[in-house]
Amino acid sequence: MDISQLKKEAGVKACQMVENGMTLGVGTGSTVAYFIEELGRRHKEEGLEARCVPTSIRSAQALKKCGMEVCDIDKVGRIDLTVDGADAVDPKLNGLKGMGGALLWEKIVAENSDHYVWIVDESKLVDALRGKVCLEVVKFGSGKLLKQLEECGLNPSFKKGENGPALTDSSNYLIELDLGEIKDPAFLANDLKQRTGVIEHGMFLGMVNEVIAATQNGIKIIK
Ligand code: 5RP
Repeated sequence: MDISQLKKEAGVKACQMVENGMTLGVGTGSTVAYFIEELGRRHKEEGLEARCVPTSIRSAQALKKCGMEVCDIDKVGRIDLTVDGADAVDPKLNGLKGMGGALLWEKIVAENSDHYVWIVDESKLVDALRGKVCLEVVKFGSGKLLKQLEECGLNPSFKKGENGPALTDSSNYLIELDLGEIKDPAFLANDLKQRTGVIEHGMFLGMVNEVIAATQNGIKIIK
């Protein structure tokens, strides 16, 4: 099975958790796109209704396109269930997110959810977090922040868009750090969070309740 088939399997499996009338957080990315597609199918064929809180403009558009109700996070109470993707997940269920540039809204939605689930293909399961860590940063002084991160050996670069630096849905910039193995994820997360100009980082530590991983040997649910 190729990666996109595995992503689809994870998305379809997670959709079985959705019940009629739920308030549902909907993540962002290519795996979540399959989850949204399956939501649309269930809406059409089974009359499934859910109030969806999207984590990006992209996901909001996809949800509307398949007929799902889209709600502002501030217009709903607690979110019953949020389904999102991830870029890497370690055995303790700490993860890296945000390569799709939506980490800030994703974290806000996750923190307001009663149950938080990631859907991944097996390539995202890692023994330790390493590689790219994404930061959403304010534009003002972002060049200075980049230098500061460079001086700390964190290998930062601005994420590029089509015409210059990529912009998030909140019109901020994104900086990617290119790291080796992250020996102490909590220390790094704390350090990043305290830097002026950093709005949020893509380290999601101890947040997820379960991971639905599609592997060549079937679906693995990790809790
Ligand atoms: C977007 C994200 C995505 O969930 C993450 O990048 C995984 O994406 P994909 O399912 O396309 O591999 O965090 O900000």
